[in-house]
Amino acid sequence: MKGDQIQDKKFNRYTVTAALPYANGPKHIGHLAGAYIPSDVYVRYLRLNGKDVIFVCGSDEHGTAIPNQALKENTTPQAIVDKYDRQIRECFAKLGMSFDVYHRTTEPIHHQTSQEIFLTLFNKGLLREENSEQYYDEEAKVFLADRYIVGTCPRCNHTNAYGDQCEKCGSTLSPRELLNPKSTLSGKPPTLKLTKHWYLPLENYEPWLRDWILKNHKEDWKPNVYGQCKSWIEAGLQSRAMTRDLEWGIKVPLPDAEGKVLYVWFDAPIGYISATRALFEEVHTGQFKFATPQRDLSHTKKEDWKKYWQAEDTRLIHFIGKDNIVFHCIIFPVMLHATGEYIVPDNVPANEFMNLEGDKMSTSRGWSIEMHEYLEDFPDKPDVLRYALLTNLPEAKDSEFTWKDFQAKNNNELVAILGNFVNRAVVLTQKYFEGKVPAQKELSDLDKKALADLKDFPAKIAASIETYRFREATANFIDLARAGNKYLAETEPWKLAKTDLNRVGTILNVALQIAATLSIVGEPFLPFTSKKLKNLLGVTDLSWQQAGNANLLNEGELLKEAPLLFEKIEDAVIEAQVKKLFDKKRTMELESRPANPAKAEVTFDEFSKMDIRIGKILKAERVEKSKKLLKLEVDTGIDKRIVMSGIAEHFSPEEMVGQQVTILVNLAPRKIMGVESQGMILMAEDKDGSLKLLAPGQAITPGSTVS
Ligand code: MF3
Ligand code: ZN
Repeated sequence: MKGDQIQDKKFNRYTVTAALPYANGPKHIGHLAGAYIPSDVYVRYLRLNGKDVIFVCGSDEHGTAIPNQALKENTTPQAIVDKYDRQIRECFAKLGMSFDVYHRTTEPIHHQTSQEIFLTLFNKGLLREENSEQYYDEEAKVFLADRYIVGTCPRCNHTNAYGDQCEKCGSTLSPRELLNPKSTLSGKPPTLKLTKHWYLPLENYEPWLRDWILKNHKEDWKPNVYGQCKSWIEAGLQSRAMTRDLEWGIKVPLPDAEGKVLYVWFDAPIGYISATRALFEEVHTGQFKFATPQRDLSHTKKEDWKKYWQAEDTRLIHFIGKDNIVFHCIIFPVMLHATGEYIVPDNVPANEFMNLEGDKMSTSRGWSIEMHEYLEDFPDKPDVLRYALLTNLPEAKDSEFTWKDFQAKNNNELVAILGNFVNRAVVLTQKYFEGKVPAQKELSDLDKKALADLKDFPAKIAASIETYRFREATANFIDLARAGNKYLAETEPWKLAKTDLNRVGTILNVALQIAATLSIVGEPFLPFTSKKLKNLLGVTDLSWQQAGNANLLNEGELLKEAPLLFEKIEDAVIEAQVKKLFDKKRTMELESRPANPAKAEVTFDEFSKMDIRIGKILKAERVEKSKKLLKLEVDTGIDKRIVMSGIAEHFSPEEMVGQQVTILVNLAPRKIMGVESQGMILMAEDKDGSLKLLAPGQAITPGSTVS
């Protein structure tokens, strides 16, 4: 890959996008590592360089997943997107995602933009209308999206393959290839029904794609991205339907298209464009609803959104996860190119996936750390998560997040290197120079070396960021703090105070200059920490070009009280998180197991024959030669009696004594292990087979009846 592309004279402005997250549920830290944190680092870096950049994102609120989630949560699609849009938006803000606009695809301006682009393509005769038979669920009365059909894989015989893909053998499938297809909605075999759709003939764009990607972007696109594009193109491109039979979505703007909406992957990426329109519109009206411009855009005009999408000197960059590659490198670019009006991306630095504690991250299986969960437990540590993710980004291959590593990154790097360095420099300045930046007197060789290194760091970090190597950039950044520590260890200013205060002053001056550069170059990675550091040092609005300078801080300037930048995370905190993760997975597993089927009906009379009471356990003891039985003495309110209960493997005698229980008192007595048992204690058997006492949630007098 080429370095130093920022100098590339071809481009005068940047449009940077981060994949629009589906507003069908919470988003986890794997999403952050895939698209969001890298894009934020990149954009913050561009801004520090004074570039003309806009950073756009928003919620992806259409597609079959939304109404399906609504069914699950027993609510409306609109309520679902409202809920998750708010949650995701808030989490992003708390994590320092610095979008200029975070929009929503349910907004009217987005419907309008999507329909316009659809009509542009339609009017140019580029969309092919075609009738075809599609799977239909007669019971649910809907056409089935590929994901909602399961059946046997024709390649490997796996019985749970999806209509679009077999997860066992990895083959891409089409629904008609599945053997014994079933609808996941009703569980019934679907029927075939004729329906009309509009197709984008991707195959017509093969020569253009070959030229644009395979020829022109071989050098600068990441190998994982380039490779996927190449295999798609070489496998032979096919037409793809750009419309769906669905209620929820953007209406197809044609007569004769009742009940049809735009395919979610047609409208969602157009969301980037709509968001940009909304940004300039809001700047123009001064009414901010979705836009939070990070630079002064007051000189712009409403129509300026076009520059960011249509001018050849705009560099468009899409940050995404690897599952989005074909949409951002093939389908969306073809759409844009086919309009004849839009630019296509200059790069799509997609990341691979981040696993979690040895397994794939998955919200539905409960094996995930959701953004909101992290923020609830670590509200004051957004930068620690950013750092732990950045140092572990799945840039070239899948990576793995572990809580142990998170702890180590915090304790061994943020606390021990960065925090420690800044703290030492500031505390010593306070101790010996009343908190004022001391003078830089004559420089020793060590000082000169430290300042020369300092000068080199920003360019190194920049080169990594510009080539989308954010892991390396982060490592370079922490290396600067490491160099600072090493410098203090070598010069040992604390030993010289008695003998040579001038020398101490020079050393601390150099150290503080390093801290000042850290506050600049650290801003993309650790924006909250950078802010604290700038505040402490009394610097504001420094540009990237100033980083590395040996005289950023003036002699005599007063430092603020050193805030705690980072604090150690104890083992117990980490263990609690790991436990929480396993507990969540277990709960999800149990919830997803089907309940036992209902028993045959009983009449009210039959039911009322049962005499169920609240009782209290007076005594409990084990039964000799039995692993399962406890002998209980129960106060039933009517009498005190003995009940033999098969719960010894679940409860100890000690924990039973004093418990309130529910007891069936008129069960015919039975001899068990030679003891007459009079009644039965009621229990719930949890889905994992464990027994739980059915105790009233409040004190109830023994003998009270239950009905
Ligand atoms: N919602 C999609 C996902 O989470 C991403 C959409 S990106 C866009 O995978 F370009 F379509 F907006
Ligand atoms: Zn298969």
